[in-house]
Amino acid sequence: MNKKVYIETYGCQMNVADSKSVLSILQLEDFASVTDVEEADIIIINTCSVRDNAEQKIWHRLDFLKGLKRRQKNIKVGIIGCMAQVNSDNLLKHVAVDFVAGPDAYRSLPELISKTYNNTKTSNVDFNINETYCGIEQYKNNTNEISGFIPITRGCNNFCSYCIVPYTRGRERSSSYKDIIKSVLDFKNNNYKEITLLGQNVNSYYFEDKNKKVDFPELIKMVAEKAPELRIRFTTSHPKDISDRLIETIAQYDNICNHIHLPVQSGSNKILKLMNRKYTREWYLDRVNKIKSTIPNCGLSSDIFCGFSDESETDFEQTMDLIRTVKYDSAFMFKYSVRPGTFAANKLIDNVPEKIKIKRLNNMIKVQNQISLENNKKDIGKSFEVLIEGKSKRSDKEYFGRTQQNKVVVFPSKGLKINQLAIVNIKEVSSATLKGE
Ligand code: SAH
Ligand code: SF4
Ligand code: F3S
Repeated sequence: MNKKVYIETYGCQMNVADSKSVLSILQLEDFASVTDVEEADIIIINTCSVRDNAEQKIWHRLDFLKGLKRRQKNIKVGIIGCMAQVNSDNLLKHVAVDFVAGPDAYRSLPELISKTYNNTKTSNVDFNINETYCGIEQYKNNTNEISGFIPITRGCNNFCSYCIVPYTRGRERSSSYKDIIKSVLDFKNNNYKEITLLGQNVNSYYFEDKNKKVDFPELIKMVAEKAPELRIRFTTSHPKDISDRLIETIAQYDNICNHIHLPVQSGSNKILKLMNRKYTREWYLDRVNKIKSTIPNCGLSSDIFCGFSDESETDFEQTMDLIRTVKYDSAFMFKYSVRPGTFAANKLIDNVPEKIKIKRLNNMIKVQNQISLENNKKDIGKSFEVLIEGKSKRSDKEYFGRTQQNKVVVFPSKGLKINQLAIVNIKEVSSATLKGE
């Protein structure tokens, strides 16, 4: 089918990778990818459901697309991703929507799209525990992109009580290590300089065939050895199963970046229990100590949210105390948003008033920003290896890139090229960026 497809991506890095697999699947059927929505015959929105405001964004976008379709009658609109999976009925009722596909159903997109040309709305939200998109290399559009995302596990079996992901992505499965290595080499051969291995909990990666049993430390070792010239990152690590072996493997390989994203969610044992996170504050702090003592200069970041059911002032203080104890380099911080269908939505009461949630969130952000600034100040005078990603937003004469620790660095571009590694000496810092030469 000779049609032009525009795809818009919301949510996490998994969706970024999936959008590129979708483009590959469609390209095999002669669809072409376009980057301007005005040129498109087919508009696909890859959605996120993790918090209510992520879904609200999509409903607003659909109102805009309704207007666009009034002017350009032949356009078809499809909704895919996490919100498509859990909200397909309501989405299909929207006048702007022609087709809906869940995260395990992307191979059926060519068929779904062709049905819409008979003016029937169609959807496929079947889960498929065997689907890892094996054999589909992600679409690459020859731009200067240097960083690629490779899903190694899909789905989640952890059922944290607040979280919708197990319902949007289904049960956990791991890709074959051979397929992952193939994707790594594909990125390498396309001049990428960095890859990030993705999973809701990469530490539970496990794949067995007649030759080998491969867990996550083994996999990351294989990847690091097969592609020594690539920077290797991974996300997300669940604190309950980050092992000493993994931490030691990161320390052992220069091309595995010294950065761990280790979402704590809360610093209170009472709240962690209600969240079904399966670790305690003490366990978490022990893991942090192991990381700090094994990997010198390791960047550490987190996800934290406040205002979960029954979170008292004392519980929140424990989160603040943990933030001050760990001293993260950065953190994504949120306020609790009830997700329909989860254990928390069904069995717990959303009893922290909105005003208090906002107050606590602002408080967390303020303290974390101060800590980020203090941590960054310690980098002044030190030199870091930086992968140059592009021109800085503020000035044409400056580049930006990231250190192994995942800190953003801005520096004069003179004599350097995008895609290279540079050694940058840090001169000044803010809470979000380092500046150097
Ligand atoms: N698999 C990852 C997280 C994926 S969701 C992990 O386990 O760490 C990304 C982040 O969104 C979570 O870490 C959590 O901080 C936040 N989040 C998830 N559900 C939420 C909800 N209902 N309300 C507010 N924040 C939420
Ligand atoms: Fe959600 Fe927990 Fe799974 Fe992460 S580990 S995706 S927070 S259920
Ligand atoms: Fe959102 Fe789905 Fe990712 S809910 S955070 S797009 S796994």
